Amino acid sequence: MHMSFLSVRAYHMRNALGRLPLNLNMASQHKPVCLKDFEEHARLVLPDPVYRYYSHGFYPEQTLRDNEEAFKRYRLRPRLLRDVSKRDMRTTMLGQDIAFPIAVAPTSMHCLAHNDGELATARAVGSVGTGMILSAGTNSTMEDVAAALFPNGLRWAQLYIFKDLSLVRRIVKKAETNGYGALVVTIDYPVSNKGPWGSLRIPPHIKMANFADVELSRLSSVVINESVTWKDIDWLHSITSLPIVLKGIRTGEMAREALNHNIAGIVVSNTGGRNLDGLPATIDALSEVVEAVRGSCMEVYLDGGVRTGTDVLKALALGARAVFIGRPIIWGLAYDGEAGARTVLEIIRDEFSLAMALSGCPKLSDITPDLVIRDLRYSAKL
Ligand SMILES: Cc1cc2nc3c(=O)[nH]c(=O)nc-3n(C[C@H](O)[C@H](O)[C@H](O)COP(=O)(O)O)c2cc1C
Repeated sequence: MHMSFLSVRAYHMRNALGRLPLNLNMASQHKPVCLKDFEEHARLVLPDPVYRYYSHGFYPEQTLRDNEEAFKRYRLRPRLLRDVSKRDMRTTMLGQDIAFPIAVAPTSMHCLAHNDGELATARAVGSVGTGMILSAGTNSTMEDVAAALFPNGLRWAQLYIFKDLSLVRRIVKKAETNGYGALVVTIDYPVSNKGPWGSLRIPPHIKMANFADVELSRLSSVVINESVTWKDIDWLHSITSLPIVLKGIRTGEMAREALNHNIAGIVVSNTGGRNLDGLPATIDALSEVVEAVRGSCMEVYLDGGVRTGTDVLKALALGARAVFIGRPIIWGLAYDGEAGARTVLEIIRDEFSLAMALSGCPKLSDITPDLVIRDLRYSAKL
């Protein structure tokens, strides 16, 4: 267990009080050095229901665990004696520049982790020149997040096909008028899954910005739509010219269907293990999706369990154009708001740069499938 930056005394005080005293400045303790350290810190400082809301997956959490574990089953085959003195991590997502291929996945309610919420995340993202997908469940408004990301942050807006289509239209309009470059439709969450965070009570000052005028008691009846089909995706195309990215595709068949519906990109995702338990880890599902769309201009991204620079390298080697991180950003916010989220992004960016160097890859295009091998002995032990 990583207890490096929190004294055992503070840990016990937390257990006695339910949470840490507010005047204990965690950011002044020993500094976290890897993304896992941020999670351990968050576990100790966040109120239990909030930590559980962010961290848990769908019971019994096999997929949640496997998202991270599966990366370890892939081993690296570096090329040596290459000049790696200059490394270039810049890339594009749907034509928009980003400084390195690691962006922020949509996660709801950042204000539960830090008062500045998504604005802190957006400033951190903008300051390092990458991008974020803003969750439909954002506490901050789409306008404010767009301003906070300006000028260097790529922004895409996540939404669901809600039961009340006027909510969809409203998010689309806001995305268009505030310079969001794509709509990310999450398609693997058609039913309400309260999960183990059911007991979470959201303090009244924390708002769901996109649903500010919807009564909380009515929210699930206007939001949850169990009958979404490809027709709704086609309808979405009919009301906007923004590119559409589908989040939650994990099979070659679905990826090929997406090609027929003018989809610009796919995020191979299992909602961080919060969806159906028993789904494969996303890194294991990636190759099938990449193969299915090979030769098209569809971009394939991945999220789920990405925690180190070598995870990023492995995902890119297996065909992802970029990866997204979800929970680590929340842990960064809990650590120190904007600065904490920025440190998370800087750590994984620098780890990735080092992994490129040690693998003999000065450019992203050098990161090819022969760089990884699946370790079958490791799988057998699981
Ligand atoms: C607390 C939490 C809230 C999330 N909210 C959303 C959401 O609003 N929309 C969405 O498409 N995905 C949501 N996700 C899923 C993330 O976008 C992403 O798929 C997942 O967190 C990636 O895995 P990782 O956390 O292991 O990096 C959420 C995930 C978490 C942990």
